[in-house]
Amino acid sequence: MSDKVVLSYDGKELELPVSTGSMDEKSIDISKLRGATGLITMDPGYKNTGSCESKITFLDGEEGKLLYRGYPIEQIADKSNFEEVMYLLLKGELPTQTELEGFVADIRKNTEVAEELVQMLNAFPEGSHPMGIISALTSALSAFNPEKVNVATEEEMYDAAVTLLGQFPVIAAWSQRKIKGLPLVKSDSSLSYVENFYQMLFNDGSEGYKADPVIVDAFDKLLILHADHEQNCSASTVRLVGSSHAGIFASIAAGISALWGPLHGGANQAVLEMLEAIQNDGGDVAKFIAKAKDKEDPFRLMGFGHRVYKNFDPRARIIKVAADNVLTTLGINDPILDIAKGLEQACLEDDYFKARKLYPNVDFYSGIIYKALEIPTEMFTVMFAVGRLPGWIAQWMEMRQTNQPIGRPRQLYTGAATRDYVEMSAR
Ligand code: SDX
Repeated sequence: MSDKVVLSYDGKELELPVSTGSMDEKSIDISKLRGATGLITMDPGYKNTGSCESKITFLDGEEGKLLYRGYPIEQIADKSNFEEVMYLLLKGELPTQTELEGFVADIRKNTEVAEELVQMLNAFPEGSHPMGIISALTSALSAFNPEKVNVATEEEMYDAAVTLLGQFPVIAAWSQRKIKGLPLVKSDSSLSYVENFYQMLFNDGSEGYKADPVIVDAFDKLLILHADHEQNCSASTVRLVGSSHAGIFASIAAGISALWGPLHGGANQAVLEMLEAIQNDGGDVAKFIAKAKDKEDPFRLMGFGHRVYKNFDPRARIIKVAADNVLTTLGINDPILDIAKGLEQACLEDDYFKARKLYPNVDFYSGIIYKALEIPTEMFTVMFAVGRLPGWIAQWMEMRQTNQPIGRPRQLYTGAATRDYVEMSAR
């Protein structure tokens, strides 16, 4: 297969090299295009445009495959745990027992969050969305960890990373406690990362409080499945902000804001709201499918479709099974799960969805588990953020350690051509 493409334009020809990735995908290097031809490319939403080379995560959208540092997500979800996945994404290899213990210890050293952030938390008005809270408090970490902002060496970046990995779950749990009007719960470094996060969310202070291991296991799996997803909207945001050397806290705070949107991570909250609307409307999924297909109706089926997956999202398959298991374990018979399954089946048989290769994505079933765990709906995207944090950090580290240039796209200007200023009296 050729290792170049030839662009002919205006009587001239330009050879552009074609690179091949380690899973055999191809890319055209256009870095010399404008200099040689004056042309730029246009690709709204970057549907055909790569922003970087990366060794972290690979997606095969046509086949519905997802690899974390080469390992299939099905194996990772079945055999690994979130602490190990965080190490794998940041370091590129599965850790030895000693390496893992050292990594976990480095994170545990960083779970004390400055008291002043509690005052900032309390200043947010009733009804504040927790994504806005955690984005603001994450950015504020710059002020309380100034020595971790302007980092240059791999060691300094690692220190900043474990600081954020230690502090973020505390902030995330605080946002839930605030929504529920409950007292904050201190981090307990004797517990695993996920058990600690879970107890900060739910510890009711009763004597000998212990999280249900089945639930913690389901939680751990959910965080694993959300841990990274190559150059999605929020990871690309982290990379773009980080490319100006704005520092880890500001870069991740920007990623949190990008994730908040209902077209991205905010979809898990929107899915549950949609399923509840269908339930309240009598459970007629056909009516909502018709709305989703109606071009005059802005309604979209939340949790369906994906920019990359034109097959089943492998994460959705795993979460669907986990949802069944969690509800069965907890003895919950939630009609919402039946509505979700009915909606999925109807869509898989519908020509509109089949023609556009629209399948359930990671957000379609996750909310059903979060609901069963009594996590408030507005907290669902915070759960996504806690899972995605190691992926964002890995992307930020890779971008900085490969010396990516500052991100600054071009545009095609279609505004007014050059014209002279008009004095007020002449307007
Ligand atoms: C995440 O990128 C990632 O990796 C993201 C993520 C991650 O882990 O980081 O996987 C997490 O964000 C998952 C996606 C969560 N969002 C939703 O579930 C929101 C609902 N889905 C859509 O809004 C949409 O599918 C997107 C945003 C996910 C993808 O949009 P694209 O790639 O821009 O696709 P498109 O809008 O060009 O749609 C192609 C066609 C259009 O119809 P036509 O104009 O060709 O007739 O499919 C239609 C769309 O109208 N379509 C839908 C639809 N999604 C696409 N129609 C109805 N319902 C939908 N959900």
